[in-house]
Amino acid sequence: MTARGARWTVDSTTKGIVVTARDRCVAQLLAWSFWLDEDTRDTIRLVVSELVTNAIVHGRSPRRPPTIEIGIFAHQGEVYIEVLDPNDALPVLRAADGERERGRGLVLVDCMSVQWGVERLPHGGKRVWTLMKLPPRPSPRERHRARLRAQLHATAPLKHIGSRPLAMAT
Ligand SMILES: Nc1ncnc2c1ncn2[C@@H]1O[C@H](COP(=O)(O)OP(=O)(O)OP(=O)(O)O)[C@@H](O)[C@H]1O
Ligand SMILES: [Mg+2]
Repeated sequence: MTARGARWTVDSTTKGIVVTARDRCVAQLLAWSFWLDEDTRDTIRLVVSELVTNAIVHGRSPRRPPTIEIGIFAHQGEVYIEVLDPNDALPVLRAADGERERGRGLVLVDCMSVQWGVERLPHGGKRVWTLMKLPPRPSPRERHRARLRAQLHATAPLKHIGSRPLAMAT
């Protein structure tokens, strides 16, 4: 599969950009014909949501326009996604703590990514990036089995008809 890439900018004050960004990343990969199972779609949506939310909540700068840039690049087996924001402050990965309500976003990104990182941009601001695995495309036989399994799970369970002990042959 050839490497593919796209990038776009959004105004971070616009409503709904988190949902748009996460759906656009998944849609872009599908449009490029990468295979995505449900778990991978959910993981990508979650990680993009956390990074874009952070860029909106923590990434603004009083000195620069509220612009966020999102880049997505994919090739066989992995996808790299970056979110650029204008604030010079860097994200801080906090230790996982079940008690705390905030500070979990980057813990999730850390768990779901093969690797992630942050780099300062030459003209101010920074890029926060993540590298995630893409699953291999299943063979037609594996896809057929998965379809059968899904159909089976969608079927209502058979009515329980009870059981009686078998009469013993004498
Ligand atoms: N894009 C960013 N720019 C500046 N600081 C950031 C950025 N992203 C994260 N941070 C800093 O890193 C901390 C940890 O981020 P994290 O996403 O884990 O938690 P949170 O955003 O505070 O809460 P949560 O994501 O659980 O709602 C943030 O509190 C913030 O101080
Ligand atoms: Mg966060």
